Amino acid sequence: MKNILEAPFVEEMKKITANMYRLGWDERNGGNISYMLDEKEVAEYLDLNNVIRTIPTGFGAKELIGKIFIVTGTGKYFKNVEYDPENNLGIIRIAEDGKTAELLWGYADGGKFTSELPAHLMSHISRLSVDPENRVVIHSHPTNTLAMNYVHELDEKKFTHTLWEMCTECIVVFPDGVGVLPWMLCGTNEIGEATAEKMKEFRLVIWAMHGIYGAGKNLDEAFGLIETVEKAAQIYMLTSHLPRINTIKDKDMQILAEAFGVEYRKDFLNL
Ligand code: 13P
Ligand code: ZN
Repeated sequence: MKNILEAPFVEEMKKITANMYRLGWDERNGGNISYMLDEKEVAEYLDLNNVIRTIPTGFGAKELIGKIFIVTGTGKYFKNVEYDPENNLGIIRIAEDGKTAELLWGYADGGKFTSELPAHLMSHISRLSVDPENRVVIHSHPTNTLAMNYVHELDEKKFTHTLWEMCTECIVVFPDGVGVLPWMLCGTNEIGEATAEKMKEFRLVIWAMHGIYGAGKNLDEAFGLIETVEKAAQIYMLTSHLPRINTIKDKDMQILAEAFGVEYRKDFLNL
């Protein structure tokens, strides 16, 4: 059996959590990540018959029965993952009942998966229904994205449109736009269901005055989506109080989307 601490997926989780912490997006225990793993790859590192303990998830996810995820722990700090992965991360498999997580590794101090597991797993189900290659869901509290929530209308079309106007690359990177949920109590099945509903349509979902969710086929893709929104939000926060002299016009955005051959939300442009 190979050493799990050297597994590429553990290394990737260490690198991305450290990176996000240093970007200032994940203060204290803010943010969480779930990453669906390949069973055969995990079997090189862990005995899949050895369930350390079982933990109820509090909701049903029958579509994910048997699926294995590496997930950040609740209350754990992103800044600590790289130094102590075994306490701050866990590898879970969704049990036959769809409602229990079987712990295969991690949460060594008796901890458990993120309190946002409902939003993560329900989002995985939604994304997989539209993109069978989806593997990752990331939740984070990026500074400018959050700041923008306080000063910009929380309307999906208007919010997406403003972000698209802020950097030329935006409509190409997230042509599907950004879904927006109103402020809701976090850590609940209700916010999980609402997020998952949006995830059928969007790979990015804002939780008003809280943070953002991004989904993708790997950590880079989910991270890159959030990173691009955050960059656009930063430009907005740097310029929104100043007179606007220039902008990317809707016609320009249409030309961009067509040149890059992306399927974009035409109804989010005013042509
Ligand atoms: P967890 O520590 O449970 O992952 O919660 C952090 C968070 O960002 C809540 O939305
Ligand atoms: Zn959060």
